[in-house]
Amino acid sequence: MRILVTGGAGYIGSHVVKQLLRAGHQPVVFDNLSVGTLDNVITGAEFIEGDILSPTQVLAALEGIEVVIHLAGLKAVGESMTHPAKYAWNNLVGSITLLNAMIEAGVKKIIFSSSAAVYGEPIELPMKEDHPTKPLSFYGHTKLEVEKLLAWYDQLSGIKFVVFRYFNAVGYDPDGDIKGLERAPQNLLPIIFEAVMGWRDKVTIFGDNYPTADGTGVRDYIHVSDLASGHLKALEYLDKNNNSLTVNLATGQGTSVAEIIKAVKQESGVDFKVEIGPPRPGDPAQIFASADKAGAVLGWQPVFSDMATIVKTTFRAYEQNKKN
Ligand SMILES: NC(=O)c1ccc[n+]([C@@H]2O[C@H](COP(=O)([O-])OP(=O)(O)OC[C@H]3O[C@@H](n4cnc5c(N)ncnc54)[C@H](O)[C@@H]3O)[C@@H](O)[C@H]2O)c1
Repeated sequence: MRILVTGGAGYIGSHVVKQLLRAGHQPVVFDNLSVGTLDNVITGAEFIEGDILSPTQVLAALEGIEVVIHLAGLKAVGESMTHPAKYAWNNLVGSITLLNAMIEAGVKKIIFSSSAAVYGEPIELPMKEDHPTKPLSFYGHTKLEVEKLLAWYDQLSGIKFVVFRYFNAVGYDPDGDIKGLERAPQNLLPIIFEAVMGWRDKVTIFGDNYPTADGTGVRDYIHVSDLASGHLKALEYLDKNNNSLTVNLATGQGTSVAEIIKAVKQESGVDFKVEIGPPRPGDPAQIFASADKAGAVLGWQPVFSDMATIVKTTFRAYEQNKKN
């Protein structure tokens, strides 16, 4: 299948493209390289440098496409609160531009990268797909609005979708083929590994007095290759069913910040400095999600998401990028 992958030069997109190629599909990466890099465009994939905000560029890229995998967007929660207009443009207007071009081009299937951020403060754990959605950030709001738009585009224009609510994406390609690191990372694992490499002097734990087993925050970490395999399952689903679907991609397990730091110190042998800072406003103590629906409906199971594999694959990617 010829598949347009918006944001395919980014962290998750490059892992998705690798698996598409391996499954015999023809991925076309569409990325403005604002964050993604050419190094991340996997050999064998076509590449179009373009912006989802440009109707003409998107329409041209949709030529001969059967399915769109839409990962392009901005994802820094903090920045979305200080620069909401940037997020409104990229994540909302960009997605609308893409959907309108899909109607014009007659492309009727899309897989969309949504986020755990649509849920907000957990009321019940593990979070299921019918958990109330009350985003705590403008980023989460943009993802939820696109989910709602997709439901309307389905009803009014027959565009079928699979929405994936990813939890915390971590790890690197187990074969070591993808090694483009995240620039100016905002997430825990890359920040920890920058400390391992000596590129930053310490790691700050934001809050150690939460009502969790060790007092540090608990999140659901899912290996990026497991996220990628979900997209193959979604393609099969859209091929066989004339239905849309919204599912979590998660592990059902929570891991604490302190547990991750311990695992990384053990694997790397580097005793980097850790300091305790105040909890960040709006940061829930624990978030983890049920992946039962993805298992039952798509037949998807995570296989790389144990902490040992996550830490090993990430360490190797950082080692491959060692500055001399
Ligand atoms: N990383 C996570 O933990 C996580 C969790 C939940 C959801 N998501 C979502 O998954 C998607 C991919 O995330 P990622 O971690 O790979 O991020 P990323 O920043 O590595 O990738 C996003 C890609 O989109 C491209 N892009 C941004 N704006 C664009 C535009 N206007 N036109 C064309 N390309 C554009 C960037 O250059 C980049 O290559 C994002 O939509 C993100 O919100 C990520």
